[in-house]
Amino acid sequence: MTGTRSASRAKERIRVGIVGARFAAEFHCDAYGRTGRAEVAAVADIDEAALGAFARKWNIRETFADYRRMLERDDIDLVSICAPNYLHMEMAVAVAGAGKHIVCEKPLATTVEDARRVRDACRRAGVTLFYAEDWIFAPALRRTCGIVSEGAIGEVLFVKAKEVHNGTHSPYAKDARTCGGGCLIHLGVHPIGWVLHLLGREGANPVIEVVGKANGGAARNYVHKDNTGEDWALGVMKFADGQHALVEGNYVTVGGMDDKVEIYGTEGRIGVDLTFGSPISVYSRRGYSYAVEKADNTLGWTRPAVDEFFSLGYVDEIAYFVDCVIEGRAPHWGVSADNGVACVEVVDAMYRSDAVGVTVKGRW
Ligand SMILES: NC(=O)c1ccc[n+]([C@@H]2O[C@H](COP(=O)([O-])OP(=O)(O)OC[C@H]3O[C@@H](n4cnc5c(N)ncnc54)[C@H](O)[C@@H]3O)[C@@H](O)[C@H]2O)c1
Repeated sequence: MTGTRSASRAKERIRVGIVGARFAAEFHCDAYGRTGRAEVAAVADIDEAALGAFARKWNIRETFADYRRMLERDDIDLVSICAPNYLHMEMAVAVAGAGKHIVCEKPLATTVEDARRVRDACRRAGVTLFYAEDWIFAPALRRTCGIVSEGAIGEVLFVKAKEVHNGTHSPYAKDARTCGGGCLIHLGVHPIGWVLHLLGREGANPVIEVVGKANGGAARNYVHKDNTGEDWALGVMKFADGQHALVEGNYVTVGGMDDKVEIYGTEGRIGVDLTFGSPISVYSRRGYSYAVEKADNTLGWTRPAVDEFFSLGYVDEIAYFVDCVIEGRAPHWGVSADNGVACVEVVDAMYRSDAVGVTVKGRW
């Protein structure tokens, strides 16, 4: 009887390990806590100070300087990879080898080859990889997908989507070798992943052409000469059914992170403001602690986020992944390993397009 009860309890909650203990780890940890179905049991980071501060803040008992030691724990079901982009491949392959499910932050890897290696390693090991594209779970964008699929704006013709702000906080993202590029792979991958989710029809409507444009990094950057990756980029995606999407990522936008989507259809159009759509308007002569991500002050008129982790999709994303693990379900279209690979392939095709100044054809 006791055995039966503890077996069913084990199915109701999972234990999670997090690799990386800084920016992304914060919203993963917050979101796991909100599920009520997951306990963050361990965290790993090579930075001792960051590791200690993070573990204290979130009351995590086990800390590891080497994430591989964390993987030896057999009570961990799921590992969140919140480490720099260039380590995603090595870490995901190790986590899969340890037989644990994976939530991997974007981008899945820094090269197409590495992204495929991750997908293949997970398949071989029989573990599930959840590609953490949070936009897909942002409540405003989910509602938007619902309105589009009801037919409210007729046939979709054209989509514009962007994530832009004034520069990355992470030293790893400033270096093209550890980031895999610049703002295109680091920020542009969000709108790319979301547009693939919106228009891709589970693979029935693939992207068949892309064009990319980026300013090149270092001295060629507009603002961030210390970033070896580009600080301004855009891409165009053409889908097999004929729709086009314009996607943008840049670090030249001051005033706070600006995530916006516009969708144009034959019978209407939709605009979404993910980051400045707050119902609160504040005018402050003195400023206050925090308004929105990457805003450098809070003076004058501001639109403070009510719950940024929720509105950007992290909370519902992690809740969905935890439910999938507990219920043994595969992730839906947009957040599978294949989708993570496709995003890296599209980014790579955009960089190749920019390098040679041509349209790149393919099937993603
Ligand atoms: N979905 C989103 O909106 C979003 C937002 C921010 C970051 N991210 C992604 O999350 C990941 C982490 O980004 P971040 O902003 O938290 O970076 P960060 O630089 O703030 O933190 C990275 C952490 O990883 C640690 N680290 C480096 N090498 C390690 C190793 N070998 N083992 C363990 N830890 C190691 C660093 O010490 C650091 O504490 C990146 O892949 C990034 O693209 C996603």
